[in-house]
Amino acid sequence: MTTDPLDTTDGVPFAALAELRATCPVSQTSSGAYFLARYDDVLAATKNIGSFQASFREPGVVVPPEEQLISEIPEPRHSEIRRIINSAIAQHRLARVEPFVRELCHSLLDGVLARGGGDLVADYVTPIPATVIAHLLGVDPADHARFAEWSDLVVQSDYATKNRRADGEENEGLAGVAREFTDYLDAMIAQRAEMADPPDDFVTRLLNTEVDGIRLTPLEMRTQLAFLLMSGNETTRHLIGNLLETVCRDPALLARFGADPDLLTVGVEESLRHDPPIHVLIRDCIGAVAVADTPIPVGAKVAFGLAAANRDPSMYDAPDEFRLDRPRPKDHLGFGGGPHVCPGAQLARLEGRVALEVFCERVASARLVEGYAREPVPVFWAHGPRRLPAVLTASAGLETR
Ligand code: HEM
Repeated sequence: MTTDPLDTTDGVPFAALAELRATCPVSQTSSGAYFLARYDDVLAATKNIGSFQASFREPGVVVPPEEQLISEIPEPRHSEIRRIINSAIAQHRLARVEPFVRELCHSLLDGVLARGGGDLVADYVTPIPATVIAHLLGVDPADHARFAEWSDLVVQSDYATKNRRADGEENEGLAGVAREFTDYLDAMIAQRAEMADPPDDFVTRLLNTEVDGIRLTPLEMRTQLAFLLMSGNETTRHLIGNLLETVCRDPALLARFGADPDLLTVGVEESLRHDPPIHVLIRDCIGAVAVADTPIPVGAKVAFGLAAANRDPSMYDAPDEFRLDRPRPKDHLGFGGGPHVCPGAQLARLEGRVALEVFCERVASARLVEGYAREPVPVFWAHGPRRLPAVLTASAGLETR
């Protein structure tokens, strides 16, 4: 058994995480990074922004301030930008999104059910968050597919970590990996800035939101819009994928969700706990600190084990079981914690709930193909199925709408 908690070659190593939680709550991986495995330590560490700062980059990689992602911007600038983003994606505006998400899920499922199944990740799961986030950003529907491709290209590239490209040239930031994408975003921003009556979308709201007299520059806007697309896409897709894998493996659960939509909300929370789409957060230690009596020096890489924390038996009875009767279903760390806690959580919950609801309502039986084994996704920090080849039968009368 691997004991490196960051070795995800075969997916998140839950057995190794359990062993570390029990025997060595703060360990060091083969690369020298410190790994925090217990719930209390991880939660406290997410709040300790004086000691831990988000880290995507290799040592020495410097990006211009306007190209820093919100996660890595130090205070007080982080809070200022965060308030602008929160206002742009505020919860009260999400009610209007729900009918769009439901219609999208139904139309995708029409095709899957007509074929009696298929790869649920490709045919149902992946298009949902990509289309929803592109819609919210205000992207022309004709360009939604290109947006999804750009998002994958950027997430799977190493532009954020390296300052030399493969050809030895300096890293040119986001534009260096996806020039068409940055040109497209820049054009959206410029168009809305010139319009007398711009559409009410994320781009317009980011343009017009002023917090304490502060607005984002066009380059900051482009950086944060691209990050919203990527963070809303790669993560929510795995939430929906994990949920569908769970119901495809458990016909009784599929039937329960179909019969009692009130259970969907807790089902989504339990999936975020049991299978957090981001299983680990990487930080730089910027202020010496001791965690569980282990000193962590400045300059060290530190990994917050969200998946490890979410299955800590001191917090959850039978933590490896997927259960719908947890006393405090929202206590998990699937969305992180502290000042950087996910601002898109309500949108992600909405998408997860509606995608599950439509699936469980319209699918009478779902079975993963014979011999199915989960293939992990190619993004190191992400946890979800790469493919879900399944055979489906439709609920009576709901083959089409
Ligand atoms: C199931 C889906 C999602 C999961 C599991 C998730 C998880 C997380 C986690 C764990 C963090 C904390 C990162 C850290 O502390 O370094 C985070 C931050 C963030 N998330 Fe999400 N997220 C999801 C969906 C979304 C969506 C839909 C959006 C946007 C619409 C979004 C936007 C962001 C942003 C902008 C941050 C950075 C916040 C900051 O640093 O202040 N996320 N997310």
